[in-house]
Amino acid sequence: MSAKLEGKTAVVTGAAGALGSAVATHFATEGIRAIVLADINLDAVGALAETLRAQDIEVVAEHLDVADGDEFDALIHNAAVRFGAIDTLVNTAGIVSPNARIHNLSTADWERSMSVNLTGTFHGIRAVARTARKKTNVSIVNIASVSGLTAWTYAAPYCASKAGVIHLTRVAALEYAKEGIRVNAVCPGTFPTALHDSLPADALTAIEDRHPLGFGAPTDLTGAVAFLASDESRWVTGHSLVVDGGYSLP
Ligand SMILES: NC(=O)c1ccc[n+]([C@@H]2O[C@H](COP(=O)([O-])OP(=O)(O)OC[C@H]3O[C@@H](n4cnc5c(N)ncnc54)[C@H](O)[C@@H]3O)[C@@H](O)[C@H]2O)c1
Repeated sequence: MSAKLEGKTAVVTGAAGALGSAVATHFATEGIRAIVLADINLDAVGALAETLRAQDIEVVAEHLDVADGDEFDALIHNAAVRFGAIDTLVNTAGIVSPNARIHNLSTADWERSMSVNLTGTFHGIRAVARTARKKTNVSIVNIASVSGLTAWTYAAPYCASKAGVIHLTRVAALEYAKEGIRVNAVCPGTFPTALHDSLPADALTAIEDRHPLGFGAPTDLTGAVAFLASDESRWVTGHSLVVDGGYSLP
């Protein structure tokens, strides 16, 4: 059986993080030819970049603040020039909002989540659409969350931004289908990472209890991301694929 992403090129944002680095590592096992590892924390992608280069993959490690649309445009343009084309963008970069109810949140708390999670995803889709519309067979995979489908207390900016990502995915899929760009999302349940550092331990236990299959790990998501990035999903667009250990069943 051939690898799902044989000869393809990719940009992964949030590549220094738990899921972003797992996605990049998995893409390497699926035959990716070239990849941009983009993160606001550039130093943290160095080791991953070396590991992938040792597998004969062309790797660019690049600073990116997804909230900066000009920086995102430049990164996608430069990658397309360098690699010849961008086949897939995985919008993984994301942040949680403060663990607080709405009346205790500042406008800045709200805007920070929106600017990274939702506007950052918008910037990524826009950059690819500006660069790649003449190329058919491009796949964008947005990392949303089950929190965009189910309501959580103490997390209004995060939930609202992820719900926005899910609907933006549908609109973008419709706008660009005829131009060969598919846009899908993955909605993970909880897999404990640095994102949860600010949560009290009892809150984490309560969250785990709500996952019939228990907490996940980044590698439980990577197959779904690779499927949506690959030609195996060529007739799938605008979809939000829930991968959540059963969290959203009840
Ligand atoms: N961990 C979970 O349980 C969970 C569940 C559902 C969805 N998600 C989503 O998965 C994605 C990855 O989460 P993770 O758990 O791997 O978190 P993580 O904190 O390990 O990784 C997030 C990465 O995004 C980067 N980042 C943050 N702001 C950025 C910006 N402005 N520009 C560029 N990069 C930026 C960080 O430096 C970090 O490397 C996020 O979008 C998150 O919302 C996570």
